Amino acid sequence: MAKCLVGFMGSGKSSLARLLDEQFIDMDVCLENILEMSITDYFALHGEASFRAAETALLEQLLQGDHVIATGGGVVNSPVNRSLLKQSELVIYLKADFDTLYARLLQDVSQKRPIFLQSSKEELASLFQQRQPYYESVATVTIEVSRLSLDELAQEIKGLGVLSGKETKK
Ligand code: S3P
Repeated sequence: MAKCLVGFMGSGKSSLARLLDEQFIDMDVCLENILEMSITDYFALHGEASFRAAETALLEQLLQGDHVIATGGGVVNSPVNRSLLKQSELVIYLKADFDTLYARLLQDVSQKRPIFLQSSKEELASLFQQRQPYYESVATVTIEVSRLSLDELAQEIKGLGVLSGKETKK
C-alpha cells in the first residue's frame, strides 16, 4: 500500500517522506528524470498542462507500490488525481497556514518551483485557498506541521500506527 504525503509547496513533504521511509519516492524528482529536464524548464518548454498529464500517469503507477510518496503540491488540482488519491488507503495532509508556508518558500535558496517563481504573494495565497479543500478532501489523516520539528512530526506519524497499513479510511 502506497502512503502519500500531500500539501502545499513548502509543507515539508519530501523532507518528511525521507524520515518515514528510506526508500521514499519524490514525485518531482521522478518527473524530472522521466521528463529529462527540470520542472521549471519543462513548464517553460511544454506548459503546465503537459506536466500535469505526466504527473497523473506517474501517480497512477506509484499508487500500485508500497512506499511513502512525496507528491507535488499541485497534485490535487486534477479531479482524476483526487479520485486516485481517494482510492488510496493512506493520504497524509501536511497542513500549515499560508504565512508559514510563504516564509519557508522565501527562505528556500534552492528555489526551483515555477509556480512560486511566476506568482505574486497574492496569487499564491489565492492558489492556497483554492487547493486547501482539495487537500482536505483526499486526506485520511491531517497533521498540523508548523508546531513541531521534522523529527517530531516523523515520530508523531510513526506513532499513529498508520504506516503499518492498519489505518482505515474515514
Ligand atoms: C507545484 C509544486 C511542486 C512541483 C511543481 C508544481 C505546485 O512540488 O510539483 O513545481 O503546483 O504546487 P512541491 O510541492 O514539492 O514544491
